[in-house]
Amino acid sequence: EKAGFDHFMLKEIHEQPKAYRDTMGSRIDASGERVVLNEVKLTPEQIWDIHNIHIVACGTAYHAGLVGKSVIEQLARIPVEADVASEYRYRSPIITKHTLVIVVSQSGETADTLAALREAKRCGARVIAITNVVGSSVAREADDVIVTWAGPEIAVASTKAYTSQLIAFYLLGLHLAQTLGTQDAAVIRETIEGLKKLPEQVEEILNHADDIKQYAEQIASHKDLFFIGRGLDYAVALEGSLKLKEISYIHSEAYAAGELKHGTLALIEDGIPVIALATQEQLLEKTVSNIKEVKARGAHVLGIALEGNHELGKAVDLVFEIPRTVPLLTPALSVVPLQLLAYYASLALGHDVDKPRNLAKSVTVE
Ligand code: F6R
Repeated sequence: EKAGFDHFMLKEIHEQPKAYRDTMGSRIDASGERVVLNEVKLTPEQIWDIHNIHIVACGTAYHAGLVGKSVIEQLARIPVEADVASEYRYRSPIITKHTLVIVVSQSGETADTLAALREAKRCGARVIAITNVVGSSVAREADDVIVTWAGPEIAVASTKAYTSQLIAFYLLGLHLAQTLGTQDAAVIRETIEGLKKLPEQVEEILNHADDIKQYAEQIASHKDLFFIGRGLDYAVALEGSLKLKEISYIHSEAYAAGELKHGTLALIEDGIPVIALATQEQLLEKTVSNIKEVKARGAHVLGIALEGNHELGKAVDLVFEIPRTVPLLTPALSVVPLQLLAYYASLALGHDVDKPRNLAKSVTVE
């Protein structure tokens, strides 16, 4: 049932190219110029009527929501807030009939996410669910459902469900942009072309898994480490840090790179591993200056960079390159080495990769 892999997590990491293809599937029309998202039944008038969007989820699904926030804001120019469900439901969020609420849940059964969905509906909002389980509670109660076709996810640590949620957000962002006319046809086409290339680009990354394995074995003896990045890279840093904590039990923190000097820099000492994501070229110079700040204090830095980015290569100790894509799409690639890092670190430490301590796959209690 593990199809020759040692663990479900590794199998599911390797299933991502298929999960991307299946989630995109017939949602991109044959011309390759338009997204067709028939399951979102909002009429163009209803889409024009959206004043703001709330994305609500827990854990890894929330991290997908943070990427979703940037994607929708950039493509559709609608203001988006992303919230953790257990906070959202108790903070009297301002929800009107012009608010679109998007809940994200792999299982579709997470108690706080379901409660947030019910609260949003009670306040008159339209609710779209992004879920991996057809017929789950969240799918049944939402107005519209975008199913992620990742297939069953067995490992407690979510991998292919997260990346499929990213694909769902790209499709939804494009769908909204097409309707609102917020992007030129060329931008839509280029983004769709980028999406279609992602599966083989993930395969390329997986071919270099051994580089990450070696690095994971080095960091396994450390007690603390840091992930830093800006913009979309920060959202991915949060996910990489959660994954590592969850299954390797190594403490790590994810920081918006520009925030380091406001406190956390005090924790950087000689030899500490720092993983710097630097895939956003318009932010590169700023991120490089943050890398210099940690290097000056003795950090050992692994950079996650776009292929052929020599500027970053010079600033760090080690580089892991990911294939080039449209800037908005990089999270669907840059998270893969971080998933592998968590996996191999957990393995090196002899932990139960698929069933980490204290955690359950589906959290149906509050
Ligand atoms: C971490 C992880 C959790 C879940 C969270 C929400 O790897 O899997 O953080 O993402 O419990 O679960 P769902 O998506 O089922 O609502």
